[in-house]
Amino acid sequence: MTEYQIASIPGDGIGVDVTIEARKVLDRAAGLHGFSLRWTEFDWSCERYTETGRMMPEDGVAQLAAFDGIFLGAVGFPGVPDHVSLWGLLIPLRRAFAQYVNLRPVRLLPGTTSVLAGRSAEELEMVIVRENSEGEYSQLGGRHNTGQPGEFVLQESVFTRVGVERIIRYAFELAKTRTGRVCSATKSNGLIHSMPYWDEIFAEIAAEYPDVHSEQCHVDALAARMVQHPERLDVVVASNLFGDILSDLAAAVTGGLGMAPSGNINPPGEHPSMFEAVHGSAPDIAGQGIANPVAQVLAGAMMLDHLGEAAAARAINSAVEKVLADGSVATPDLGGSATTTDLGSAIADALT
Ligand code: NAD
Ligand code: IPM
Ligand code: MN
Repeated sequence: MTEYQIASIPGDGIGVDVTIEARKVLDRAAGLHGFSLRWTEFDWSCERYTETGRMMPEDGVAQLAAFDGIFLGAVGFPGVPDHVSLWGLLIPLRRAFAQYVNLRPVRLLPGTTSVLAGRSAEELEMVIVRENSEGEYSQLGGRHNTGQPGEFVLQESVFTRVGVERIIRYAFELAKTRTGRVCSATKSNGLIHSMPYWDEIFAEIAAEYPDVHSEQCHVDALAARMVQHPERLDVVVASNLFGDILSDLAAAVTGGLGMAPSGNINPPGEHPSMFEAVHGSAPDIAGQGIANPVAQVLAGAMMLDHLGEAAAARAINSAVEKVLADGSVATPDLGGSATTTDLGSAIADALT
């Protein structure tokens, strides 16, 4: 029987609650589909930072390198500045393992309280391909003339040819397996170096894919389109920052942050990929046992699919749909009063 080695990093806040539930669902799916998951738990978190001064040990990357997959809850909690916690754990892992694709599928699930809940599922089926290793997320820059009237900060962006080409090519390859449409989100009217460069490379790669319909959109207009005409979108490729913002918007229009999964993918497979929800640690509801575990469960299904266990991944997706369509077990964000554990158990029980 195949046994996959999985590193589990529940992290902070609701990351801990939803990871437990997702693991329960994944273990049951594994049992039903003839494989097993061997979990190794890492307590890397803001709590650890408070105790040790580090989010993860110095050799943290080396400790994870041999795993088949990484299952992450959420990182960040009040008390530790966000740029310290995130640059101490999540962002370095994405970079160390060259997880340059952040894949964020967007689907209208049954039972949602979305503003677009009346739409058909076909109209709201897209995927955000977010650049995950460079761009606007950069440590280059700094504060100048501190304390003087002319004080200012510089925050640099880095767009490498390799980095831009590989994410755009990934989007086109993905589009070939879907509806054959790619929309690239930029802001070339405002950002005069990075975004025209991205557009130029997008046009070059689009020429290699004559069968894929490509278009370049300004990210502001694209945000409006995502709400008003989501049916015109399929694969959306975007820089690190724009992809981040668009993915919360897409989650909101399809059912909320509690429903949106994501995968940090290393496409060549030479390093582990990492799966997590789009949402964060939700300090406002942490410790109450009411977080929606669906996003983390679906992230788990993405991980199984990535490991080659497509049937188990499909089974999890079906179980989630069944429970959401039934509607009798729903967390508060879905209009119900179920707990995180109630919903996790209902999904596990619905697996066949
Ligand atoms: P957030 O996603 O944690 O929360 C935004 C809102 O959505 C909150 O009202 C929250 O209650 C709600 N929400 C999120 N997930 C939910 C769920 N599963 N069920 C029900 N409601 C849910 O965003 P934030 O408040 O901006 O960030 C909180 C912390 O998490 C920050 O430290 C931030 O940096 C971090 N963060 C981490 C990740 C990650 O680890 N991948 C992602 C985003 C934010
Ligand atoms: C996400 C998060 C992170 C990001 C933050 C917490 C650094 O918002 O995974 O979407 O922007 O990448
Ligand atoms: Mn985000």
